[in-house]
Amino acid sequence: MLQLDSLSKNFGGLPALSQVSFTVPEAKLTALIGPNGAGKSTLIHCITGVLPSSDGSIFFKDQEITGLSAHQISQLGISRTFQNLRLFPRLDVLNNVLTGLTNQGGTSMLMAMLRLPYLRHRERQLKLKALEALDRFELGEKASWPAEVLAYGDKKRVELARAIVGKPDLLLLDEPVAGLNSQETAAVGEQLKMLRRKGHTILLVEHDMELVMDIADQVVVLDSGRCIAIGTPEEVRKNPLVLEAYLGKMEATA
Ligand SMILES: Nc1ncnc2c1ncn2[C@@H]1O[C@H](COP(=O)(O)OP(=O)(O)OP(=O)(O)O)[C@@H](O)[C@H]1O
Ligand SMILES: [Mg+2]
Repeated sequence: MLQLDSLSKNFGGLPALSQVSFTVPEAKLTALIGPNGAGKSTLIHCITGVLPSSDGSIFFKDQEITGLSAHQISQLGISRTFQNLRLFPRLDVLNNVLTGLTNQGGTSMLMAMLRLPYLRHRERQLKLKALEALDRFELGEKASWPAEVLAYGDKKRVELARAIVGKPDLLLLDEPVAGLNSQETAAVGEQLKMLRRKGHTILLVEHDMELVMDIADQVVVLDSGRCIAIGTPEEVRKNPLVLEAYLGKMEATA
């Protein structure tokens, strides 16, 4: 589904990603883990065209997408959430989720102004889809609330609803449960499992190792911008390089 070939990203000459290569297989959940500053978010930004990569190539369904704009990449069927929330604070929850469907609107401004019956029907369909996505995360009742008044955990789940509403082929999630309580985390974990069962391909950046061990098919480990291990959760957990990367960071901050 997704293939990274020797992907590198420098910030002002400092490498944040160095020749990272791995594949994300279709209909599987791949977890991307690594200590703080390892380059996980940078990698998601490069895949989604939010940041240009410095070197290497990215392929999505055998098509090279390196250098395409964020808009072009989302139209191909890749959607994402951000580690730091990016909702429209004044917009209500339903409309925030509807922005995840803008690629499917297919209407011009003139057509929208004429409010043709077909369009009204289409609008209703899109709203139903958005409500369905909100219901999955038990947010249907808050559809008319301005996003800014929601609690943090709800905001995180509105972002998830927006990311899945367009039924993307590839879903990139940057720490979707960070800051959620254990009950909310378990509920989101169940939703991710269900999405995977339905055939969605997911790349999940996550620090919650319990969740990763529970739901990942494959784990990729980054450390200081390099890919240091790829394998099943069990294999990665026992990998000495991985243990060292995490222990090393813990000792440095102790
Ligand atoms: N816009 C930027 N300009 C300069 N340096 C950056 C920028 N974004 C990230 N970096 C640096 O790149 C490295 C990787 O950062 P990144 O945010 O990708 O790490 P991460 O693995 O997502 O960490 P965390 O687990 O804390 O979210 C860090 O050293 C960071 O300081
Ligand atoms: Mg990050």
